[in-house]
Amino acid sequence: MTPITRLAINGASGRMGRAILALIRDDRRFELVRAVVSAGSEHDGMPVFGELSTSLRYAHGWDAAPAADVVVDFSGPEGLSAALAYCVEHRIALVTGTTGIDAALEARLKDAAQRIAILRAANFSLGVAVLTRLLREAAAALPDWDLEIIEAHHGRKEDAPSGTALALGQAAADSRGTTLAKDAVYAREGRPGARRHGSIGFAVVRGGDVVGEHTALVLGHGERVELSHRATDRSIFARGALEAAAWLAGRKPGVYNIDDLLQGRQAKTTA
Ligand SMILES: NC(=O)c1ccc[n+]([C@@H]2O[C@H](COP(=O)([O-])OP(=O)(O)OC[C@H]3O[C@@H](n4cnc5c(N)ncnc54)[C@H](OP(=O)(O)O)[C@@H]3O)[C@@H](O)[C@H]2O)c1
Repeated sequence: MTPITRLAINGASGRMGRAILALIRDDRRFELVRAVVSAGSEHDGMPVFGELSTSLRYAHGWDAAPAADVVVDFSGPEGLSAALAYCVEHRIALVTGTTGIDAALEARLKDAAQRIAILRAANFSLGVAVLTRLLREAAAALPDWDLEIIEAHHGRKEDAPSGTALALGQAAADSRGTTLAKDAVYAREGRPGARRHGSIGFAVVRGGDVVGEHTALVLGHGERVELSHRATDRSIFARGALEAAAWLAGRKPGVYNIDDLLQGRQAKTTA
C-alpha cells in the first residue's frame, strides 16, 4: 500500500488553495496537516472544512507546524519566502506555483534545491506539459515550416499573449535554436508585409468564459499540423499540483518541473 503523504498548503484560503482543498477531501493519498494563510487573514483560526469540522483550522505562519512530507504553495512571494525557509529547515519537499518572484528569491530557491526537492511550474496542467513536448518535437522535425500560436481566454484576462502561449513559443524557439526576442511577432495590422521566414507568430482571442485554449499551428505547403489544448475547468491546475506533490515527496534534492513528473510517470508505465 502507498504510504499517505502528509501535505501542508501555503495560501490555503486563496483561489488555488481552495481548489486544492476541494480535491484533497476525497483523495486518500494525502493527509492535510497544515493550511497556511497570511498573518492578519480573515480566515486565520477558522475551520478549514466548514463549521462542522474542528479538526483542522487555518493558521498563519509555520510556528509549531506539525511534520509534513511536502508543502504545496500558491500564495505570493512573501508567503513563498516563509514556506521556503521552513521547508529548508525541516528538509521538506516544496511544490510551488507562485509567480512574480524577484531575483533574490529566485536565487534562494536555486540554493535551497541543494538541500530539498523543489518542483516549480507556471502552469500545472499536465495536458499543457504534453502539448509543450509535442510542439518541441514538431518544431524541430519540421524546421522550415511556419509556426503560429493562437490562444483564447475569458474577457477579464489582462495580459496577452498568455504566459502559457509565451512558454509554448519559447519551447518551439528553443528547439529551433532561436529566441522569442529574435523571432516572435506579437501583432499584425495594416500592411505588415509578407510573413518573415522563421518567425513565430502569436494571435490572441478574448471573450466569454473561456478558461484557456492554446493551439500551435505548424504550417507547411499542402498540409499542416495542429496541436491544441483546451482547459474547461480551473481545477486542472490544482489537480496537477497534487500529482506533483505525490510524485515529489521523498525525492532527492534538486529543481524539478512538470516534464520530470511526466517522464517519471512514463518510465513507471513502460517498466
Ligand atoms: N502555476 C499555476 O498553474 C498557477 C495557477 C494559478 C495561480 N498561480 C499563482 O499562484 C499564486 C496564488 O494565486 P491565487 O489565484 O490562488 O491567489 P489568491 O486567491 O490571491 O490567494 C493567495 C493566498 O495566499 C495567502 N497568502 C498571502 N500572503 C501570505 C503569506 N505571507 N503567507 C501565507 N499565505 C499567504 C492568502 O491568504 P489570505 O488572503 O487569507 O490572507 C491566500 O490564501 C499567484 O502567484 C498566482 O500567479 C499559479
